[in-house]
Amino acid sequence: MKKLVLIIILVIVSISLFLSLVLSKPVKKEVSVKKNFIEEAKCLPYYKNNNIKRYQDYQKLNSNLSVEDIVTRVNLNLDLPFYTNTKEAKLTNTFYTLVNKYNYLREDFVPNNLVELETPYAREGIYLVKSAKDKFYELVKKASEEGLTIRAISAYRGYTYQKRLYDKYVENDGVTKADTYSARPGFSDHQTGLVVDVDNTINSFEAFTNTKEYQWMLANSYKYGFILRYPEGKEAITGYQFESWHYRFVGVKLAKKIKASNLTFDEYFTRYLDFSYSS
Ligand code: DAL
Ligand code: ZN
Repeated sequence: MKKLVLIIILVIVSISLFLSLVLSKPVKKEVSVKKNFIEEAKCLPYYKNNNIKRYQDYQKLNSNLSVEDIVTRVNLNLDLPFYTNTKEAKLTNTFYTLVNKYNYLREDFVPNNLVELETPYAREGIYLVKSAKDKFYELVKKASEEGLTIRAISAYRGYTYQKRLYDKYVENDGVTKADTYSARPGFSDHQTGLVVDVDNTINSFEAFTNTKEYQWMLANSYKYGFILRYPEGKEAITGYQFESWHYRFVGVKLAKKIKASNLTFDEYFTRYLDFSYSS
């Protein structure tokens, strides 16, 4: 009888030991993952202490992403819906300014040094900031030497013009669809005066993807300071569909670095150009 009681006690102790081990493991693991994630995040120069809770929440929902990507995307506000937590764009009137669905230009913002482009570089009535225009001319000349035709079909767009465009798109397609391809007034990269939409004069700009000129732009535009602003596969970061025709001037030095980084301008800006790390 004594033996039986001893065996029963032994069995109960073993089962409870086993259960406590099995149940306690996942909790321990979660704590250590969280700790490592934040420790790693803190080592990044673009880590922002104010965002700590948002990094943790975003990491829980996107555990497939690297620490760098989580911190970058939260810094960009991508954990929040588009057009929320909006702020006036910084560094306006520099080649570095970031204008996107969270960073806007004021209604009365008009860039300095806008100049009109001439034919055959552009359609009539197209304006760019002078330094961007000069480099765009060089780009068009070089492409032309190689038998290719590149022309600007839209560049600087003021607030009121962008509003007219956006309102028309909303009327035709509804807000949700329009937001995938058109910026709301104040939030357009075009208002910086540093953007060109191009075509090859033959195909519609929407078919630019299938042209030799597009392949040439992909390989060479950075040499003249222009980067593809809304690349394919990066829609969740830029907030826009792929636009093979839309190029943003950032200056030659920066364009080379962005091209080599394989990051979108939004990501590159928040990692290397947005110096408000202390906030
Ligand atoms: N199509 C680009 C996103 C714009 O409207 O600025
Ligand atoms: Zn454009």
